[in-house]
Amino acid sequence: MLQEGSKAALELPSHCAEKSWQRHAWLYDPIIKIFFLPFGGEGRFRRALVDFAGIKEGEQVLDACCGTGTLTNLLVERVGETGAVTGIDLSNKLLEKAAKKAKRVLPLTFSQASCADMPFPDGNFNKVFVSFGLHEIAEADRQNSLQEIYRVLKANGSLFVLEYHLPRAVLTGFTVKAFHGLFEHEEAYRMLLDGTLLPELEQASFIIRRKRLIGAGMFQMLHVDKASLVEDRG
Ligand SMILES: C[S@@+](CC[C@H](N)C(=O)[O-])C[C@H]1O[C@@H](n2cnc3c(N)ncnc32)[C@H](O)[C@@H]1O
Repeated sequence: MLQEGSKAALELPSHCAEKSWQRHAWLYDPIIKIFFLPFGGEGRFRRALVDFAGIKEGEQVLDACCGTGTLTNLLVERVGETGAVTGIDLSNKLLEKAAKKAKRVLPLTFSQASCADMPFPDGNFNKVFVSFGLHEIAEADRQNSLQEIYRVLKANGSLFVLEYHLPRAVLTGFTVKAFHGLFEHEEAYRMLLDGTLLPELEQASFIIRRKRLIGAGMFQMLHVDKASLVEDRG
């Protein structure tokens, strides 16, 4: 089900709006399929993230920057009938595609909203996912978005991130840099080269639990916790 957008400013960042798949939403899924072919296929990557997160039945899950909802559809299979999955994205074109792909009987909702201003109460979700989304959020909105994710997570909730990673090996490192130089915008390139992702997550009060490299070290999966500090009174 595709819900009305929230009151938040729903303008795509210019680097995002310029991408061909934003203007022609039908291109997104085929491009992603081709992109992941050298790494064993898109399904393998998406499932690796879902397995990494260990979703339990009955959980409330948010897929932030869900795009065409391919990951969102995998997540909803894991939460069962007692859980629920929500996908949000700025792009209504991509969300329309996502809603068409959704199996109707499952507890799945898509809604147009910005990560920087989410229409959810505090402590609403057990798990939040952001797959290839953080580098697309405008730098000016990224810290707000991470703080919003922190806010909507339950006290013991976790965030799972799938993002690019800069490998140390010369050949793969060069490949990732070249890809970013050609196809990604300057802010994403900066996030990758300066390695700002983990410090940005910590700045938003998250605790980094696990980092797993995949695809010859060109991608990373992160598990970060909200885990509030428990005061020990002795
Ligand atoms: C590269 S796509 C990734 C889509 C999907 N998660 C995937 O794994 O295929 C990045 C998405 O982030 C969305 N996006 C960018 N900034 C956003 C923001 N501030 N709030 C919500 N979505 C945003 C874009 O519209 C786009 O759909």
